[in-house]
Amino acid sequence: MSILVTGGAGFIGSNFVLDWLAQSDETVVNLDALTYAGNLANLASLQGDARHVFVQGDIGDRALVDSLLATHRPRAIVHFAAESHVDRSIHGPGAFMKTNVDGTFTLLEAARGYWGTLADTDKTAFRFHHVSTDEVYGSLGPGDPAFTETHPYQPNSPYSASKAASDHLVRAWHHTYELPVLTTNCSNNYGPYHFPEKLIPLMIVNALADKPLPVYGDGQQVRDWLYVGDHCSAIRAVLARGQVGEVYNVGGWNEKPNLEIVQAICALLDELRPDPAGPYARLVTHVKDRPGHDRRYAIDARKIERELGWRPAETFATGIRKTVQWYLDHADWVAQVQSGAYRDWVATNYATR
Ligand code: NAD
Ligand code: DAU
Repeated sequence: MSILVTGGAGFIGSNFVLDWLAQSDETVVNLDALTYAGNLANLASLQGDARHVFVQGDIGDRALVDSLLATHRPRAIVHFAAESHVDRSIHGPGAFMKTNVDGTFTLLEAARGYWGTLADTDKTAFRFHHVSTDEVYGSLGPGDPAFTETHPYQPNSPYSASKAASDHLVRAWHHTYELPVLTTNCSNNYGPYHFPEKLIPLMIVNALADKPLPVYGDGQQVRDWLYVGDHCSAIRAVLARGQVGEVYNVGGWNEKPNLEIVQAICALLDELRPDPAGPYARLVTHVKDRPGHDRRYAIDARKIERELGWRPAETFATGIRKTVQWYLDHADWVAQVQSGAYRDWVATNYATR
């Protein structure tokens, strides 16, 4: 038995592959294009492990996907591969349309072709699990109820619009072709192997380098933070017990404004790696806001709890402590990902803010 994971060298995908193989002997075929966000160093502990088959390639390469499906005959596809960074989608939306929309379309078509060849019992058991985001639902006002699975789609950024499009494709492939799909819409993740273009790892690595901590606008935008290991356990629960064709929202019950997140990171660093120059919070710098910046996301995760018994295991206090400690313990990983291309991105996004 095997599963095909796409994007398994990225942040969440690599955590998922590591967690999966820590708990199961089922082979993972990992298809990843190794864009700037993909990093085999995340999977270094699996070197020589026959249960992990890594294939560098594009989900939009139909011939490659067909041949992987025919060779490995997975019982499920777990689809993480995407362009995932909102700021990059504002600077260059094309790659988001290509991978998140066209790529998902190609993957769905390949899955449909393969699924059609399966014997009845395998056909019934097969799953296409689409990993999506809460950003498809748009932005909430301060007193609005959290997003449920029936909240209207109101994506506001090129990234969220491309993910919304992919969610609609997945829904339609189930409705029209009866492909057995599952979709999860999750809130902001954080944890090990998070690329330091996103808020939490960026703040940790900048603070450790005594660089400014760039808070967009007033820093009062609210996100619902979930430790990545909890997202992985939610996906495993949905894959194992989710109802075909259903959508499950996944969140941490943990809404916090960005400034509070940055202050929490500074306080932990003050404790774990004090800076002789003074508290890290002195580095906080308000910069020009993100265009079209969504003000608030919040997930109502009652459906997955009620139907599948899933709840996050980490609180924000435990998760952020583990995360900051992980970055302190993995200076080599941080140095490796801050390559020339990373420096180009920092210049593109922050030089004129
Ligand atoms: P990431 O950017 O860290 O990783 C994406 C991975 O996909 C990389 O390894 C990259 O090389 C690979 N990839 C990109 N284009 C590809 C292509 N055309 N073919 C094959 N591989 C390709 O992203 P992440 O933060 O790990 O997010 C994973 C998934 O989870 C995405 O679908 C994202 O929309 C979703 N999601 C992320 C969050 C979050 O907070 N990070 C929250 C909810 C949902
Ligand atoms: O909500 C789920 C989404 O969370 C995922 O679908 C995306 O893939 C993931 O990137 C994330 O999107 P966000 O835009 O919320 O994450 P990001 O870490 O980029 O930003 C979090 C908040 O912090 C957001 O309000 C913008 C702000 N921010 C971000 C950066 C990089 C800053 O204030 N300064 C920064 O330098």
